[in-house]
Amino acid sequence: MNRSFHCSAIRRSTRMRGTTTTSTTLIARHLARSSPAQSLARSPCPRPHHIPPLTTQSRHHFHSSPTTMSSQKDWSASQYLKFERERTRPAKDLLSQIPVAAASPKRIIDIGCGPGNSTAILRTHFPDSHLTGIDSSPDMIAKARQTLPEIDFQLGDLQTYHPDPDSPVDILYSNAVYQWLPPDTRLDTLTRLLSTLKSGGVFAFQVPDNFDEPTHESMRAVAGSGKFSKLKDLQWGRVPFQSPAEIYKAFKPLCQDVNIWQTSYYHVLDDHDAIVEWVKGTGLRPYIDLLDDHERKEFMDMYLAKIREAYEPLYDGKVCLKYPRLFVVAVRA
Ligand SMILES: C[S@@+](CC[C@H](N)C(=O)[O-])C[C@H]1O[C@@H](n2cnc3c(N)ncnc32)[C@H](O)[C@@H]1O
Repeated sequence: MNRSFHCSAIRRSTRMRGTTTTSTTLIARHLARSSPAQSLARSPCPRPHHIPPLTTQSRHHFHSSPTTMSSQKDWSASQYLKFERERTRPAKDLLSQIPVAAASPKRIIDIGCGPGNSTAILRTHFPDSHLTGIDSSPDMIAKARQTLPEIDFQLGDLQTYHPDPDSPVDILYSNAVYQWLPPDTRLDTLTRLLSTLKSGGVFAFQVPDNFDEPTHESMRAVAGSGKFSKLKDLQWGRVPFQSPAEIYKAFKPLCQDVNIWQTSYYHVLDDHDAIVEWVKGTGLRPYIDLLDDHERKEFMDMYLAKIREAYEPLYDGKVCLKYPRLFVVAVRA
């Protein structure tokens, strides 16, 4: 199967419903991924060598699993929420594309619900649905429970999550989560979750698509500078997320509709430190969590210097963080 066949398949399956979405964006992106970067994405990826502790399993439909791409240290809900408005915007954009047929869902699961920001918008949009949030981070779940005490939040690993067969799920929703899964098992996990849905059920997710952005190129460059021996073999962040064509190929046999699009957000932030502060709550974690205080300071100084070089200040002294994101809304056949 050649590239153009994949591209036209994607073009046919993609509807123009997004904000800045275009089919050509997808095609250009797919062609870019058909370069050496794509073959990297398809090659088996060794497991990260830091394995987080098992989470407490709260319901019978979680089984313990040691594999995830999160770092050993727990997430910090307060660090993450420093940019709550910006981080929640794609969650709203994802929600807005859930098809009308699923407008009265009985049961919704917010997988990787974090501190409950995505769950809150689901609750507002679907006030009559039974909503469950699951997340593997104790700090995130604690914050979610504190913010939305009326919602059912469960601590658990999505990789071993099976919806209860006696309560069919209408919408499996995930905002900014699956990039944390090991690349080599990611598509299997996604298709397994998708396959649990009944016909007409919706699987909706969004992931950052910023592998080639200076924020992420710079963290890989600093980690690979040779100064941090602990990061020498770190595999995290070394390959991009699966391409639209790969996702389409995996999903389409199970779906009546697969809607894929990409949107770039342009977040105007106060200064370069704010960019660093943003990624400290997410993408930088697997790197800096492995370092001691002294090493972390050195890493952060080098990283900030690179960010200063990469992001030219705007006319008013602020900086613009370009943030591409990939969206998928699939309807089960
Ligand atoms: C970037 S936050 C997204 C939070 C929220 N959904 C939002 O819209 O902002 C990613 C979340 O995914 C969770 N996560 C990562 N890997 C997970 C896994 N294997 N199982 C469950 N949750 C996971 C993290 O703990 C974190 O809270």
